[in-house]
Amino acid sequence: VCGIVGYVGHRQALDVVLNGLRRLEYRGYDSAGVAVLTDAGLTVERKAGRLANLEARLAEVGVDSFAGTAGMGHTRWATHGAPIDRNSHPHRDATGRVAVVHNGIIENFAALRAELEAAGVELASDTDSETAAHLIAREYGAAKERGGGLAEAVRTVCRRLEGAFTLVVSHADEPDLIVAARRSSPLVVGLGDGETFVASDVAAFIEHTREAVELGQDQLVEITRDGYRVTDFHGEDAPVKPFTVDWDLSAAEKGGHEYFMLKEIEEQPEALANTLRGHFVDGRVVLDEQRLSDQDLRDVDKVFVVACGSAYHSGLVAKYAIEHWTRLPVEVELASEFRYRDPVLDRDTLVVAVSQSGETADTLEAVRHAREQKARVLAVCNTNGAQIPRESDAVLYTHAGPEIGVASTKAFLAQIAANYLVGLALAQARGTKYADEVAREFRELEAMPKAVSRVLETVERVRALGRELADSKAVLFLGRHVGYPVALEGALKLKELAYMHAEGFAAGELKHGPIALIEEGLPVVVVMPSPKGRAVLHAKLVSNISEIQARGARTVVIAEEGDETVRPFADELIEVPAVPTLLQPLVSTVPLQVLAAEIARARGYDVDKPRNLAKSVTVE
Ligand code: F6R
Repeated sequence: VCGIVGYVGHRQALDVVLNGLRRLEYRGYDSAGVAVLTDAGLTVERKAGRLANLEARLAEVGVDSFAGTAGMGHTRWATHGAPIDRNSHPHRDATGRVAVVHNGIIENFAALRAELEAAGVELASDTDSETAAHLIAREYGAAKERGGGLAEAVRTVCRRLEGAFTLVVSHADEPDLIVAARRSSPLVVGLGDGETFVASDVAAFIEHTREAVELGQDQLVEITRDGYRVTDFHGEDAPVKPFTVDWDLSAAEKGGHEYFMLKEIEEQPEALANTLRGHFVDGRVVLDEQRLSDQDLRDVDKVFVVACGSAYHSGLVAKYAIEHWTRLPVEVELASEFRYRDPVLDRDTLVVAVSQSGETADTLEAVRHAREQKARVLAVCNTNGAQIPRESDAVLYTHAGPEIGVASTKAFLAQIAANYLVGLALAQARGTKYADEVAREFRELEAMPKAVSRVLETVERVRALGRELADSKAVLFLGRHVGYPVALEGALKLKELAYMHAEGFAAGELKHGPIALIEEGLPVVVVMPSPKGRAVLHAKLVSNISEIQARGARTVVIAEEGDETVRPFADELIEVPAVPTLLQPLVSTVPLQVLAAEIARARGYDVDKPRNLAKSVTVE
């Protein structure tokens, strides 16, 4: 949560920083602010609400006082302190010579605040972040006396901070320098020609450079026009990992779409193809970015999938496939519950931690807990070098490309595909599937981008239906087998985007309670299994639909093309291509994404930035 950006170079810092913030706004949009080092010292402006509010404010005050080539910016997802102007970043010390933006949570901030107050410092906000500005200002003098400067003062303060943070700091006395530091929150450096950037995500500077450096845990970087220097929190030079970003600006832009989410829904065939690419070599499934040997995979006697939200749903889908292919027990656990319930883990347990951002605090803590218990952790992640893969034993990247819309779409489909690759690799290593069977399963997966493209050709009807359903009070989603997690995902999408009550149920559970919710006109979306693949399940679901239709529900049925048996019970029929049962979620989820987005649009909501949410949830 929170997007941060810092710049030192030859352009006007305000322009670069605002552009960067535009690309980072998906990380939080409760407030935004900028600080520029000018001839007069530090010029700061901040405003509650979307970045547009800040821009309007800047237009009002005029940007002349912001002339300068070094600066920083912040877009906030509120943790400590309400989203109001005075809690917006940058925060300053009492003299106004130090400015700080912060992402994360300073856990010992109450003690630090008390210490500052006891020393007579008046704090101007309710945030944990402001304490850092005052502490750095206090350390600065001492650091100068020792022959150091801002970087040293920041290091001293970082050693005292507990929790997770990325800080970007500037001091009016050192106008050509920006200092940034990180612990458990993301920070990358961008290397341009005569200009250097820091940001929580490469998207902030991708239009200027694709050359980047990833910072490690407890590291600090000083950036100037001419380059950078990375040290640990004690001032020792630290090794860095340069990398080149493998996507370009167009991937982070809307490309003519009204919303990123709509673009990302359309990118799903490509996301799937890219995720599978290179993972079948010489007749074998390879998890090439892994550091787990075949022997490690053979030793596995239990699999846990830990994740949150949509990523958790991708694990629920994968459980059916992995258990079927490997005959290993698979537990899927919400990361926020996992470590608090004392799960049974040992070195033969494989924990698959699924996370698009690779930053989710709940999932990161689950990874740490699993590793403490000696379990092996494989991260399935969409963000190169993020914290979760860094702390895992192995990583399998989903190559969905940047996902900007807050609601997960292409990353979700890519997660399912990646989880399936893990299942196939386990089956192959353990010999529970013959080589030709593994090859066939992989080929079927490889055919999925085409199947998803076909679904995308037919979404106009779903859009029209979305507009019709926009005034509904609630929508229920039903499924069985792999259709059950799809129902959960459909309901989650609708809740988060359209702020509508939505719930997903296992269709068999209907008669154990939820059927009482059915009333005249209530839309119920039913995810049908294939009549050929799972005839018994199909028949059961048909009777479930007839039960709810008889009680007045408006049935919206997602079914395989040519499934005639279901037609009499479907008030609305959405057809998807016939694919093997285990792969159905990859096609049946797509109309549900479109439905949720269209209902939200019809209700007048911002599809990319649903209220109260942020893309990366770096707090527990
Ligand atoms: C829902 C959604 C969230 C995320 C969840 C995990 O559309 O996007 O539920 O799936 O917050 O995020 P990652 O995958 O980044 O760990």
